[in-house]
Amino acid sequence: MKVFAGNSNRLLAEAICNYLNLPLGKATVRRFADQEIFVEIQENVRGEDVFVVQSTSFPTNDHLMELLIMIDAMRRSSARRITAVIPYFGYARQDRKPGPRTPISAKLVANLITEAGADRVLTLDLHAGQIQGFFDIPTDNLYAVPILSRDVKEHYNLENVMVVSPDVGGVVRARALAKRLDCQLAIVDKRRERAGESEVMNVIGDVTGKDCLLIDDIVDSGGTLCNAAEALLKNGATSVTAYITHGVLSGGAVARVTSSKLKELVITDTIQPTTAVQSAHNIRVISTSSLIGEAINRTSQEESVSSLFD
Ligand code: R5P
Repeated sequence: MKVFAGNSNRLLAEAICNYLNLPLGKATVRRFADQEIFVEIQENVRGEDVFVVQSTSFPTNDHLMELLIMIDAMRRSSARRITAVIPYFGYARQDRKPGPRTPISAKLVANLITEAGADRVLTLDLHAGQIQGFFDIPTDNLYAVPILSRDVKEHYNLENVMVVSPDVGGVVRARALAKRLDCQLAIVDKRRERAGESEVMNVIGDVTGKDCLLIDDIVDSGGTLCNAAEALLKNGATSVTAYITHGVLSGGAVARVTSSKLKELVITDTIQPTTAVQSAHNIRVISTSSLIGEAINRTSQEESVSSLFD
């Protein structure tokens, strides 16, 4: 087995290699003057079980192209099997046509990865589980829930905890954590009663005096999160913490979170934290390296990956 990485998240790739007790494979990903991407695999991969770690995070298109070119380079170097390890799968939110004459970009990206030569995909907390079906190659979707719930148990008195989904679409994910923690579940229901009127945040469930834990897969602009936190505090919650797998945190999101009333935002390292994230007083990053490392190990040994979540 050999593990290689593009430029999107070398810290996570190194941590995964550390878990697997393997050196990170030698490869360079460089740019021509016109920004074309050039990849060179600097060790023999003939007949190897190769894992390429690359999140398609910001700059999304560059990182996606790096991944495609790395897979192509591996295929042309006679790797036996190539697994695209995509801790954060960008474009996942474009998983259906929101209106006429719009694309399903998540499917297009799945086609590109397959066509480049990937034999398998390993990813984590896909925005929608059914995106696995966009790939006609085996795709394992890992869940961050065991890591998140372990962290909650270390930091919270569960008797006073209420797990909250920040929108109706995230209920299944939030319910999985509530079930693991044996806690109650509340939902923030965002509604625009009439066109032109601002959105009303209705909280379904009694959060009075509760330590609320907002659960989501992605924090991008931070809007969904900060609005939900505001609504919970207005409804009598004692504190609001957020556990969110993928810290996309675009534009002014970090500033939005630091100036919000959130006690803490806990994200994972599927997207490499920027210096702004690292220095934010209320953002903490927990690692997925052992989960992804173990999934890679089991894939390589042809063992069950789903039993990681039993
Ligand atoms: C939406 O369906 C996702 O689960 C997230 O709630 C959303 O992507 C968060 O985006 P933002 O932080 O920009 O509100």
